[in-house]
Amino acid sequence: MTTGLRKGLTSYGDAGFSLFLRKAFIKAMGYSDDALDRPIIGITNTFSDYNPCHGNVPDLIESVKRGVMLAGGLPMVFPTISIGESFAHPTSMFLRNLMAMDTEEMINAQPMDSVVLIGGCDKTLPAQVMAAASADLPAVVLQTGPMVVGNHKGEVLGACTDCRRMWAQHRAGNIDLVEIETISGRLCPSVGTCSVMGTASTMACIVEALGLALPMSAAAPATLADRRRIAEASGKRAAEIAVAGTPKPSDLITAASIRNAMVVLQAIGGSTNGLIHLIAIAGRAGVSFDLDAFDQLGRDIPVLLNLKPSGAHYMEHLHHAGGLPALMRELTAFLDLDAPNISGGTLGDAIAAAESVPDQDVIRSFTSPLKPEGAMAILHGNLAPLGAVIKHSAASPHLMRHTGRAVVFDSIEDLTKRIDDPGLDVAPDDILVLRNAGPKGAPGMPEAGYLPIPMKLARQGVKDMVRISDARMSGTAFGTVVLHIAPEAAVGGPLAIVQNGDRILLDVDTRRLELLLDHSELQQRLAALKQSSPRRGIPQRGYSKLFEDCVLQADQGCDFDFLLRDGAPVTPKKDK
Ligand code: FES
Repeated sequence: MTTGLRKGLTSYGDAGFSLFLRKAFIKAMGYSDDALDRPIIGITNTFSDYNPCHGNVPDLIESVKRGVMLAGGLPMVFPTISIGESFAHPTSMFLRNLMAMDTEEMINAQPMDSVVLIGGCDKTLPAQVMAAASADLPAVVLQTGPMVVGNHKGEVLGACTDCRRMWAQHRAGNIDLVEIETISGRLCPSVGTCSVMGTASTMACIVEALGLALPMSAAAPATLADRRRIAEASGKRAAEIAVAGTPKPSDLITAASIRNAMVVLQAIGGSTNGLIHLIAIAGRAGVSFDLDAFDQLGRDIPVLLNLKPSGAHYMEHLHHAGGLPALMRELTAFLDLDAPNISGGTLGDAIAAAESVPDQDVIRSFTSPLKPEGAMAILHGNLAPLGAVIKHSAASPHLMRHTGRAVVFDSIEDLTKRIDDPGLDVAPDDILVLRNAGPKGAPGMPEAGYLPIPMKLARQGVKDMVRISDARMSGTAFGTVVLHIAPEAAVGGPLAIVQNGDRILLDVDTRRLELLLDHSELQQRLAALKQSSPRRGIPQRGYSKLFEDCVLQADQGCDFDFLLRDGAPVTPKKDK
């Protein structure tokens, strides 16, 4: 097997010349023959001035390089796309698959025996893991780590649950313009990923649960020495697996580890985005994803992690409470402890080494859970034939069974235009409906599912309403919000036929989401919908065209259809 610099030679029709030329050029960087004969460990560089969540990447790269060289390897850093959540237009999800393709192709195109993938902001870790699963080169994932918490008037603040809470207070007139500007300087006091259990933290936990990252790597803050030591250890391990040639991502991403990740996703009160990404990762690995099994786990496993937005604390507190291994110790009855880990041991080994921290309130036990059920439920019904999701751990208990009048917004633009109109016909018991905000409709399925409470209701003190859409929601958000309705309105899903004044039933206990119309009226509207042309609004060229043509629906992970491992649906279709 060819290794190191000899891997994947550029095609000049003469292999000897190709290697000679490659060496001649790389020696321009001052490398010795000794260095160039070593196993090569690629390291992704996702630093970007547009991505503060990756602000510590240069430091981490130095630590990874040190680890690689301590183990006798040659580190080679290479750039890939970086996606900073709030700097990506139209939405970061639109770019996730592009980053996955870029990362996969650069791993395949350049000579390396293993790779360290450094990422953190919401879409980067899933993109990198999707890429690693497809490239199937030995890989270690290194999270950038969460930022530390901030303070305002004696109150602990963290991005970005508190961003939303404070902004809602501002909208309601309780915080003035001067104070909200002050708060904007205190919500993100350091580089690193959001400090609550948002999508970045969820994915950091998922990659550790999958065994792709070292134990204790999920929650160590971005700015702590622990994070740099984890980076050094990741580099060292990457050099070892470069020589061994194993484990590969396909050894680690299996039906067992995907199920372990589902268990963790429910128990941490994870982001709904984490579900889409986990489905996409499973699809890249050729592992089927059972949404019903995920839902059932949610009934069996309570939320044990007391972190915002479901609970009270922040990621750094999870690290100090023993990290993910200590949480997984509470879940051993549900986990496959034999699942291998990138460290060379098993999940059981990682749990056995977990620290016990007395008198902490971050990781709860089964006897005193934060919430009686898991984070998420999968809904079905005539409004969501292929499913929808609700993060009921962060929703209002009194709205878990609710019937209300639909107030429909036809697009994100329509929502923006009318939501604060004083003349909007809306009452606290109504159900806000947003459509054409799914993978193809928006495009890119933006995090618009957390519809703001209409200004006139917010000012009356209304804090939550049932909101349903084919969009996504930030993992840092909270409220009674039904998301990912599939199929989406833009491809003819039933969400497209809802009219103002229709009645809708949400019943989380029975997992139903129903448009309360009689059957013949429903069929008539669906037949009329088929005659109309779908609503799309994106340019038909370049990456946008590829996205429009190939993106899958939310229940299939929103990957491109041609990137699945074996082309089969990730979540098998079942009649509901
Ligand atoms: Fe990057 Fe939250 S914005 S992790």
